[in-house]
Amino acid sequence: MKFFIDTANLEQIKEANELGVLDGVTTNPSLMAKEGIKGQEAILNHYVTICNLVNGPVSAEVISTDFNGMVKEGEKLAALHKNIVVKVPMIKDGVKAIKWFTQNNIKTNCTLVFSAAQALLAAKAGATMVSPFIGRVDDGNWDGIQLIEQIRLIYDNYGFNTEILAASIRTSLHIVRCAEAGADIATCPLPSI
Ligand code: E4P
Repeated sequence: MKFFIDTANLEQIKEANELGVLDGVTTNPSLMAKEGIKGQEAILNHYVTICNLVNGPVSAEVISTDFNGMVKEGEKLAALHKNIVVKVPMIKDGVKAIKWFTQNNIKTNCTLVFSAAQALLAAKAGATMVSPFIGRVDDGNWDGIQLIEQIRLIYDNYGFNTEILAASIRTSLHIVRCAEAGADIATCPLPSI
């Protein structure tokens, strides 16, 4: 199982990296804002800094919610560094954008996935990774781990090679249960490890 850190905090990224078990980074616009990184130039520079710290995929999220906007932003993000994975929301135009990125050899992480049907759609579009938000699924009184199990079964049934990136992890028990359920990757903030 691969471990990603879910933060834009450089000190935490360095600390996790020094443990020697870090495989990648996920970020999102609110994590960037939390670190006080504002404005397009500062955000793009911050992604490059993260890519230079960690030898692995770094998810950089688009803010647009329309197809053309996502493609434009995603191309810019992907051009920053070879390790950038464009994070695209699971919405109608997001599925279209993932397909476009797949056809143009740009890696994607389909985020905000809350159901097996959405994960199936993301894989059909060719997403490199899919991010089921298990903590938030639990918050809604559904079972986040069961969602991982369902996605694993579906991907194995059809031979999809989209990686299951368990996100919105709240505890180390979540990580263990995700490992048992066959998630390829777990992403969480440093304090959750
Ligand atoms: C992952 O890529 C997301 O940024 C993250 O896991 C969201 O988690 P949250 O539910 O704690 O916001």
